[in-house]
Amino acid sequence: MIEAIKKRRAIRQYLAEKISDEKLNEIITAAMYAPSANAKYPWDLVVIKNEEIKERLSKLTPWSIHLKEAPVIIAVIGHEKESSDWLEDCSIVAEHIWLEATNQGLGSCWVQIRGNDKAEKEVKELFHMPEDYRVLCLLPLGVPAKAEPEHTKDDFDRSKVKQESY
Ligand SMILES: Cc1cc2nc3c(=O)[nH]c(=O)nc-3n(C[C@H](O)[C@H](O)[C@H](O)COP(=O)(O)O)c2cc1C
Repeated sequence: MIEAIKKRRAIRQYLAEKISDEKLNEIITAAMYAPSANAKYPWDLVVIKNEEIKERLSKLTPWSIHLKEAPVIIAVIGHEKESSDWLEDCSIVAEHIWLEATNQGLGSCWVQIRGNDKAEKEVKELFHMPEDYRVLCLLPLGVPAKAEPEHTKDDFDRSKVKQESY
């Protein structure tokens, strides 16, 4: 587990290589096993392979351009009315996807949509989503075009961890 955690990086360049159904299924299974407040699971995933839709998604924000190159994109959709904890639940789902993608030798990168009302509206229209559902983020999946170094203990400030009291 710690291996995938250290190896997980924001990967923004992908090879044109397709992703096998086996790998995609493992990643989706990892999402399904995410914990959920009150076991409500207030989320859906939209799996996108269509080139035209990927192109449109890549233009949503200044930080979404790399979506275009990814063979697959997974959108994490939250049911805001179903659970006040939708944001926490969906964030854990997204991290499970990112970690399992790493475990499968693939790269991903969280592309934020929530908080950008224009981008969120566009995604909702594009996916024909119910009005009260939310779009948290988009996760591209692809074979990394170049390896990013894994995290080491030097990347983080240990003083963030306090003992017994702040
Ligand atoms: C909530 C959240 C939003 C992010 N939004 C974007 C984004 O819109 N576009 C992007 O390219 N990267 C985005 N990232 C990736 C971060 O830039 C990246 O995780 C950070 O630089 C740390 O690098 P690492 O993931 O390689 O450890 C986001 C990450 C998180 C957790």
